[in-house]
Amino acid sequence: MTPVTIDDYKDKYPDVKADFTVDQRWDQYTDEEHGVWRTLYERQEKLLPGRVAPEFLEGLEVLKLEKSGIPDFRRLSDDLEKLTGWRVVAVPGLVPEDVFFEHLANRRFVAGQFIRTPQQMDYLQEPDIFHDVFGHVPLLANPVFADYMEAYGKGGLRALKFNTIDHLARLYWYTVEFGLIRQPEGMRIYGAGIVSSKGESIFALDDPSPNRIKFDLMRVMRTNYRIDDYQQTYFVIDSFDELFEATVDRDFAPIYRELPTLSEFQPEDVLETDEVITRGTQAYARAKRAKEREPA
Ligand SMILES: [Fe+2]
Repeated sequence: MTPVTIDDYKDKYPDVKADFTVDQRWDQYTDEEHGVWRTLYERQEKLLPGRVAPEFLEGLEVLKLEKSGIPDFRRLSDDLEKLTGWRVVAVPGLVPEDVFFEHLANRRFVAGQFIRTPQQMDYLQEPDIFHDVFGHVPLLANPVFADYMEAYGKGGLRALKFNTIDHLARLYWYTVEFGLIRQPEGMRIYGAGIVSSKGESIFALDDPSPNRIKFDLMRVMRTNYRIDDYQQTYFVIDSFDELFEATVDRDFAPIYRELPTLSEFQPEDVLETDEVITRGTQAYARAKRAKEREPA
């Protein structure tokens, strides 16, 4: 894959800056686009209480995240910055890894501007503004999670030197995007990929198909993932502090030297060394693969 460059965006976004940020052009969203946001928001709002970590709901509340339509990043960032020093910046699409990490390391969360169409309510492979903002931003109002995201960005900048971004990307995938957390009230979702998806908000917690395995940094960094379907394994933390402590100020150099010499695990694997919370049947994934193999 050729790395994306500023020139790829210049035609459509003449205002694109060297750090790939653009103006959100909030005034240009149509009523239909605001309506899509409202529908998605209302759907998740009904579903999430009792399923999502309370820290997420607290974030929604303190940020006064708009239900009525797509939020204006300027307003949202001003409020978020007062709480944890983070801002939300708009980018036109994919950005190079070093740019992404540099933003995170400086407490800037990059978000896409576009929103899915009414025909894409239930599934979208590339992240849109509902995923990026509704899914990710509420937890950035939580001080510990906010620190973790900065630590991740700094870790990413160091990992670039070791050419081991793929391993670190798995950590992001299985925590920030698809993480579960075990709390006194029960198992809860917190990953943005789950929280912003109606189907996966239910599947990740209730379905007998996926494995739910206690988080372990090395185990996660050795595990492949699927980007085009529900996860076959979710990794479970006990607290956001646990996540932060696993990454902050830790010298990853020995880990990065060791990782390429170790075998990789597949998304559905369960190991003898795992602390298994739920052993999945994998029935969903199997049925799906069988269907894909059927002649058209
Ligand atoms: Fe995301």
